[in-house]
Amino acid sequence: MALAHMDVAGSELLRVEKVDVSIDGREILNDVNFRIDHGEFTGLIGANGSGKTTLFRVILGLQTPQRGEVTVHGEPLQRSNRSLGYVPQKVLFDPDMPIRARDLVALGIDGNRYGLTRRTRANHLAVDEMLFAVDAQEFADRKVGGLSGGEQQRVLIAHALVSRPELLLLDEPLANLDPGSVAEIIALLHKVATQQHVAIFLSAHEMNPLLPVMDRVVYVANGRVASGTTDEVVRPDVLSALYGHHVDVLRVHGRVLVVAGQDSDESSSVADHPELVVE
Ligand SMILES: Nc1ncnc2c1ncn2[C@@H]1O[C@H](COP(=O)(O)OP(=O)(O)O)[C@@H](O)[C@H]1O
Ligand SMILES: [Mg+2]
Repeated sequence: MALAHMDVAGSELLRVEKVDVSIDGREILNDVNFRIDHGEFTGLIGANGSGKTTLFRVILGLQTPQRGEVTVHGEPLQRSNRSLGYVPQKVLFDPDMPIRARDLVALGIDGNRYGLTRRTRANHLAVDEMLFAVDAQEFADRKVGGLSGGEQQRVLIAHALVSRPELLLLDEPLANLDPGSVAEIIALLHKVATQQHVAIFLSAHEMNPLLPVMDRVVYVANGRVASGTTDEVVRPDVLSALYGHHVDVLRVHGRVLVVAGQDSDESSSVADHPELVVE
């Protein structure tokens, strides 16, 4: 049973407890609670503007919550905690920027804060190993700006993983990728999570591509979250309570669609719901 696997003693990696965030007097997150265990693949699912990036910034210590706490291994969060790796949203490299994929990965090595990579053999091997793990050897010596979106994403993942974090946060890494690259990145992350025992916490506004690999989901709407396995969370009763109005959960051809229900109030548009897909 899912709950039993959640409660394995000593496996807790990250805990977010009673977190409230307001920005400029506006409440963005309200009483957010969840945990992430070692080696798990967790999706942070929510519509645009629902607070996913803000939650990542809280976890990274870049945004101070008005209330609540984030702990890593049961200890209060420290800024630049080395257990955490981060792939930010929408990183775009100029095609002319003279940095090769290999150089970018090297910049992720610990102790590299001044932009210099010590050319030690160990560092060189670590970079090679990571380029191999993300299947990027083929374009390792090309400029990052000249690579496709999916290739750039792989290099950014290697950059974040080369310092060997226990938890990798990825903010919308699937946005703006073609469906083939989406599948490729998900398979790659799943492989890395399993082989290197890295926990993955990945935000997305579309959960369907993640259904086969997600151990757990943290679903954010209305400033609040519901967390658990997808079966526990992606249900009409749980999501209606979260959204504050009735939503239906439809399963069609193996896809899940969350749609505004019949009795939803006039002000809520279907566009508020991340999984409404009309194809
Ligand atoms: N620095 C900021 N200043 C003002 N508002 C912000 C700031 N950061 C986020 N917000 C607001 O917080 C809400 C959540 O934003 P965000 O966390 O970026 O959502 P998501 O990543 O899910 O799209 C949005 O309404 C956004 O406008
Ligand atoms: Mg965002």
